[in-house]
Amino acid sequence: MKFFIDTANLAQISEAKELGILDGVTTNPSLMAKEGVTGKSNIYKHYKKICDIVSGDVSAEVISTDFAGMIKEGKELAMISDNIVVKVPMIKDGIKALVEFNKLEIKTNCTLVFSAGQALLAAKAGATYVSPFIGRIDDMSWTGMNLISDIFEVYSMQGFDTEILAASIRNGLHIVDAAKAGADVVTCPLDAILSLLKHPLTDIGLAKFLEDHAKAAK
Ligand code: G3P
Repeated sequence: MKFFIDTANLAQISEAKELGILDGVTTNPSLMAKEGVTGKSNIYKHYKKICDIVSGDVSAEVISTDFAGMIKEGKELAMISDNIVVKVPMIKDGIKALVEFNKLEIKTNCTLVFSAGQALLAAKAGATYVSPFIGRIDDMSWTGMNLISDIFEVYSMQGFDTEILAASIRNGLHIVDAAKAGADVVTCPLDAILSLLKHPLTDIGLAKFLEDHAKAAK
């Protein structure tokens, strides 16, 4: 399973990269706004900075919601760097855009996916990645992770090669459950990745090993 970081924060992207386990980055307009990056030129420069840090796939989302606008914007985004993946919303024109980007050999990530039917359409349209939003379904008091299992079942049965990118991942348990449910990729905040390190028995065990080592050396 690939690990992507879900942020536009350059320091966090660098920190995750230094761990040596980072495969890519996802962003969205909210994450870009959170970094205070505004205006098309600055946003595109920021994407370039991210692509200079990470060699893996970097998702950059279109703002347009009509077919022509999405294609124009997607082509511009794809020019920024070879590792840009154009993120397209799950709407009617988005499906048409996914088909067109596929013909143009531009990688895509279909975002805002909340049902297996939407994921089926995205795969049929040739999306490189599909992004089911797990945490936001949990927020509605439904079980978001079931969606990963459903999509995995559909894609396996039908032989689609669209990769399941578990998004809106909020914690370490989400990451482990997404791995068990068949996600190809998880994208999550740095804190969620780092939370996988934590176990009190690791800390207690290490302290004891070091204590015993120090005693024996006396
Ligand atoms: O990038 C899309 C997704 O990961 C957003 O997550 O936490 O805003 O629901 P969240």
